[in-house]
Amino acid sequence: MAKRRPKIAKARPPDPDAPNAPWRLFVAVPLPAAVIERLGSLIETLRRHDWPVRWSDPDAAHITLHFIGEVPQERAELLRLALPGSVANEPVFNLRTADPGVFPNLRRPRVLWLGLHGPTHRLETLHGVVAETLQELDFPPDPKAFHPHITLGRVRDANNAPTRHLPEAIRQAFEAEAARNREPIRIPVDEIVLMRSILSRDGARYEPIVHCPLVKPPKMDRDP
Ligand code: 2AM
Repeated sequence: MAKRRPKIAKARPPDPDAPNAPWRLFVAVPLPAAVIERLGSLIETLRRHDWPVRWSDPDAAHITLHFIGEVPQERAELLRLALPGSVANEPVFNLRTADPGVFPNLRRPRVLWLGLHGPTHRLETLHGVVAETLQELDFPPDPKAFHPHITLGRVRDANNAPTRHLPEAIRQAFEAEAARNREPIRIPVDEIVLMRSILSRDGARYEPIVHCPLVKPPKMDRDP
């Protein structure tokens, strides 16, 4: 007789609209339309390989500056008030898109990403400024090292058989992509955004809580 499988209730994400539900927060750098477009076509191409990868929604793609996690709403409010001032004197700068890569390494691919070129040390400075603000407000520090990237997708289950050939398949596909020598796309970093991530069965939806503009350099007056 066939054994009945015990029913395992799927864990439901907590109702994000419940009063006093904590907010899942992160701080991000938004991406311009041209980069969203490039991500869309890159993901569309990679998707054809049928890898066990959960692909990002290009429209929601961003550069994560800080993942904060779940916080009570009143703590989110403190951050909403403090964050704009903390970066208001940081200068705007430009990054540009680079080739794709993987975390942590090709032998064990977990996260597929598009890299960034340009003054990434400025992004690290912004990361540090945000970290200081979080610390001042007694948010727990983010123990992870900061590796600026744009997530293309995440490998679903690295222990599954279909992932065995994944490293070589990714290597070939990413090498081919790099060989195309695509024109880098400019990413103006002129603001950071405190975002709320709302989890549901269909994935995550992101809502901006507050936009925090960086400072534009003053226009130099011409000598008379
Ligand atoms: P990433 O995709 O840039 O790597 C919103 O969920 C963002 O926060 C994600 O885009 C992800 O950044 C980051 N993130 C989500 N969960 C995280 C976690 N548990 N630890 C660290 N970063 C996380």
